[in-house]
Amino acid sequence: MCGIVGYVGSEPLISYLLSGLSKLEYRGYDSAGVAVHTGDSIKIFKAQGKLDNLKNILRDKCEAGVKTLSGDAQGAAMQGFNSFKTSEEKAKIGIGHIRWATHGIPNEINAHPHVSPESKVALVHNGIIENYKEIKEELIAKGFEFKSQTDTEVIAHLVEDCLRNTNNFGQALRCALKKLDGAYALGVIFMDDPDTLYAAKKSAPLIIGLSDKGNYIASDIPAILEYTKKVIYLDDFEIAEIKENSVKIFDIEGNKIDKKYEIVPWEPVSVNKMGYKHFMLKEIHEQPDVIRQTLFNRLICSSEPIKLDEVKLTAENLKNLDRIQIIACGTSLHAALIGKYLIEEFIGIPVEVEASSEYIYKRVISNSNSLTIGVSQSGETADTITAIKLAKEKGSHVLVVTNRPDSTMARLADSLLPINAGFEVSVAATKSYTAQVLAFYLLALKLAEVNGSLPSEKLEEYKKQLLQLPQKVEMILNNKKEIHACAIKFHNAKNFIFVARGINYPVALEGALKLKEISYINATGYPAGELKHGPIAMLDETMPVVSILTPGKVYEKVLSNSEESKAREARMIAITSVNDSKLDSIFEYIIKIPQTDELFSPILTTIPLQLLAYYIAEFLGKDVDQPRNLAKSVTVE
Ligand code: M6R
Repeated sequence: MCGIVGYVGSEPLISYLLSGLSKLEYRGYDSAGVAVHTGDSIKIFKAQGKLDNLKNILRDKCEAGVKTLSGDAQGAAMQGFNSFKTSEEKAKIGIGHIRWATHGIPNEINAHPHVSPESKVALVHNGIIENYKEIKEELIAKGFEFKSQTDTEVIAHLVEDCLRNTNNFGQALRCALKKLDGAYALGVIFMDDPDTLYAAKKSAPLIIGLSDKGNYIASDIPAILEYTKKVIYLDDFEIAEIKENSVKIFDIEGNKIDKKYEIVPWEPVSVNKMGYKHFMLKEIHEQPDVIRQTLFNRLICSSEPIKLDEVKLTAENLKNLDRIQIIACGTSLHAALIGKYLIEEFIGIPVEVEASSEYIYKRVISNSNSLTIGVSQSGETADTITAIKLAKEKGSHVLVVTNRPDSTMARLADSLLPINAGFEVSVAATKSYTAQVLAFYLLALKLAEVNGSLPSEKLEEYKKQLLQLPQKVEMILNNKKEIHACAIKFHNAKNFIFVARGINYPVALEGALKLKEISYINATGYPAGELKHGPIAMLDETMPVVSILTPGKVYEKVLSNSEESKAREARMIAITSVNDSKLDSIFEYIIKIPQTDELFSPILTTIPLQLLAYYIAEFLGKDVDQPRNLAKSVTVE
């Protein structure tokens, strides 16, 4: 995680660094910092906690700004920074960082930028240096002293050590990089090279933005979109030397590389809450439109074939497929589990789902007859990227389902299935999950069409179910008062259990994940039939059990499992579309969803659970959009 930015040019430097960092806050919010080269020194400003703390420090430094700023208004603050009346005003080159702590607690000392002992080098880093302890010991033996507990400080010291043998800054950087194991995206400035911003990348994303008013670096496109759409994607082991009017790229041996820029087909995203208290609530409410958008041009009416031209698998490929593997993390993993159920049900090919972090540490059994599907909102999750690379090495066709068609995963994909959920700000994934699940419906039905594995009447009926989803989701959102009331009633519980069976089992996992990540209440999801194999021992009158019951194969079974929980005095909550008087005697709270076929219920059963988690967290006064210890994009393994 962590996000880095940098700029060289004559536009207001601090303004860019701060606005760039604000677009990267989804990558971490443990601390923030900037370094600016004033011509005669490198000045560092750091603050623990969110970016606002750094802004406040800089605002205090801003003589003109102090007089003109009122309150916390960000626009006014930015104007204040523009008239920075200290020596920093002259600065034309700087770097910035937003941290998600890996090595060392989130305090000011561990905040980036880090500087070398003689202040010759300042740098910001996203990634993890795996051999930092060994390097640190070697440098300590040479007399270097360290202030922080980070792996990053080692890089600054190492570059300064390399500078003892050369006065070529690029060469010193390359000499240091050759000694590093692990992942890095770096922005580096040198005291004695006040016109050049250096950037380097290995296994962590980094882009260069080109403009007439100077050049930028950033971990992600939104950080530069306001300034330019011309982007160079740096590849692993490439090092850039960036000046106001030029960009040169070298490989790790110092050979020059010619790279073309690309024009990003995006407009600057204006992210605001549109009147909602939190982004999470806004994003939950966007789901009917996200479904329409994901279906747009792909499923037009139930009697027509699904258009999924992005998937480059022919009927011939499909016939030869011997395995499908889906790899993902967190909420995307839960969407993948629903995908497995759908593909197995509709086309009868066995599907394995694995957490990317597990997949990469075992023997990878893939070949040219396998299809590997990587699922990721961000397209930048480090474990999933590594897993995809391994599958590709084994010759598997890789299909990536992502919300970021510009991401690293998208660029690695053989087939790319974008999910069109729009920019998701809240760390807790909601609308991207719904779009991922929908993408699996489209994919599974498309495979069934190509494979002829479902009768045409069934296919048509299933497509109708998909087309009805947006209205059904709207009905749930219109009924949220009931869920709010349930949240108020149960917000004091210390633990929660979510249970379901079949296609809704991943929904139980997702309901538990949503609740724990934003409310910090301990929550677990189980297949309902597993309760009696251990977890039932936890049940008493303090334990809420949320049961998901939709009409179909497993309804009666989940009902019996719920009775068993009720018999142990658990406090029972149902998410159901069933009108069944038997429910009244078991459940203290019944949250109704519209009538639906069990196979098409997971999106509808998840939305009340998103709202339940949201209202509980909000009621408890938690930082819903930026929960502690988390980041939106997990770019470390
Ligand atoms: O960007 P990705 O979908 O690859 O991210 C995977 C997980 O980090 C993510 O889903 C995480 O679990 C969310 N915080 C869940 O709300």
